[in-house]
Amino acid sequence: MFVVVQVDRVTRMLQRVAVVGAGAAGLCAARHVLARPGFAPPVVFELSGNVGGTWCYEERVGSYPNGRPVLSSMYRDLRTNLPKEVMMFPDFPFEPQLSSFLPHQEVQRYLERYCDNFGIRPHIRFNSAVENITPVTMTTDSEGRKLTWEVTSADSSGCLRTEAFDAVFICSGHYSDPHIPQIPGIQNFKGKVLHSHSYRCPEPFSGQTVVVLGAKASGLDISIELVKTGAKVILCHRYAPLAVPLPAGIQESSSVVAVDENGSIRLQDGSQCRADVLMFCTGYNFSYPFLDSARLGLEIQDHVVSPLYRYILPPAFPSLFFIGICKIICPFPNFNCQVQFALAVLDGSVTLPPREQMEEEVQREQQTKLGRGVQQNHLLKMDQDQWEYCDALADAAGFPPLPPVVRSLYEEVWQQRRVHPENYRGLNYRMVSATQWERIN
Ligand SMILES: Cc1cc2nc3c(=O)[nH]c(=O)nc-3n(C[C@H](O)[C@H](O)[C@H](O)COP(=O)(O)OP(=O)(O)OC[C@H]3O[C@@H](n4cnc5c(N)ncnc54)[C@H](O)[C@@H]3O)c2cc1C
Ligand SMILES: *[C@@H]1O[C@H](CO)[C@@H](O)[C@H](O)[C@H]1NC(C)=O
Ligand SMILES: *[C@@H]1O[C@H](CO)[C@@H](O)[C@H](O)[C@H]1NC(C)=O
Repeated sequence: MFVVVQVDRVTRMLQRVAVVGAGAAGLCAARHVLARPGFAPPVVFELSGNVGGTWCYEERVGSYPNGRPVLSSMYRDLRTNLPKEVMMFPDFPFEPQLSSFLPHQEVQRYLERYCDNFGIRPHIRFNSAVENITPVTMTTDSEGRKLTWEVTSADSSGCLRTEAFDAVFICSGHYSDPHIPQIPGIQNFKGKVLHSHSYRCPEPFSGQTVVVLGAKASGLDISIELVKTGAKVILCHRYAPLAVPLPAGIQESSSVVAVDENGSIRLQDGSQCRADVLMFCTGYNFSYPFLDSARLGLEIQDHVVSPLYRYILPPAFPSLFFIGICKIICPFPNFNCQVQFALAVLDGSVTLPPREQMEEEVQREQQTKLGRGVQQNHLLKMDQDQWEYCDALADAAGFPPLPPVVRSLYEEVWQQRRVHPENYRGLNYRMVSATQWERIN
């Protein structure tokens, strides 16, 4: 009898965690929940039938026969823009025989191995879409007033089910909901209009003139794919001329301001051009249709979610965690730090400041960034700040920081990409120590 009571008490005290999404971030959250004492195995909700999120290539664009939208933005010939040596989760290397820059299939295989290695799969509910997440205050005998989360999900037949959790990790990604800027007169354009989210391969564009809007990672990579397959590319963007040597066939231009009635595209510098295709490589919106942002004290805009303490949690609800929301980061290592910090908050090994203080801190940091000339839209871009950020999380939560060699190689590759945008992926690297890497070709 005594033993039974003990067991019951222990299981009751284990924290129940819901994870939304089984992409890289959700798998990472599940892996650490499973490893940590004090937590019940997580419930991972995954809309699709697979792990891997955006790395799970889907040839189809638009939506599935069941009406759900295709979320993956992966294109057929994509290779990683980070070498596997820094891209990996710090506790799980890619296979040693693989080259540094990998086709997307290898990343998908890696995430499947990660999932199976850490025994995550039995805890994933596939084909299960989270539709609503609501905080509910409950009164219990033993714990007094306590916040729980009601998570409502729909299975493949549309059956709804609501369950209660102590904490929720939002790992639903933010490269699925295309952001398309308003362009006056766009309805006059006679050709094809698409967003990079729906781009899969270059062949259909052979012999055509394609105006690519946006020259960030995907704008540049897709432009290079297109010219190699015989398209003519006009790469339009708002920024100073790119400091990269562009392959012949890509003409760099100022941004698109309007489409005239006769279908001509008008550019910022006053010139005009005609094209068969307008391809928006203009990024993605944040989108959390299952959250009531006002109720959570959050403002969710196209490119900003705020306030989030340490880019992870809303100060008013410190048991809701957004993993992987920052941009211009080394994604997997960043997720790994955020998840461990969040779990340390939950198990009490990190004590958060009071709500007001967290809000002030977020405010202060935003003001500092804006003061440095950062645009409102770019507040979640980390770039140089990412290393100090990860170190601070590690320090606060008492887990090992990223070895300095990760930053060093990341920065090396960033340089190489700038100088050799067409062929930096042919380079291969090897980690030598916690501070040193070497090039092996
Ligand atoms: C084209 C492209 C190229 C990239 N290249 C690189 C690269 O070279 N190196 C690199 O490190 N990173 C790269 N990235 C960044 C990439 O986004 C991250 O590596 C990582 O995959 C993000 O993982 P995630 O788990 O946050 O999101 P996702 O991979 O988007 O996973 C989110 C998951 O949540 C599920 N989901 C969403 N909504 C719901 C819901 N309501 N209910 C249940 N499940 C839901 C989705 O089905 C999906 O499986 C690239 C991204 C893109 C789009
Ligand atoms: C998302 O992007 C579109 C443009 O593509 C915009 O009109 C819309 O308002 C955006 N914001 C949200 C939060 O959906
Ligand atoms: C389209 O119209 C604009 C004025 O609106 C004109 O300057 C341009 O020459 C026209 N282009 C073509 C190809 O007719």
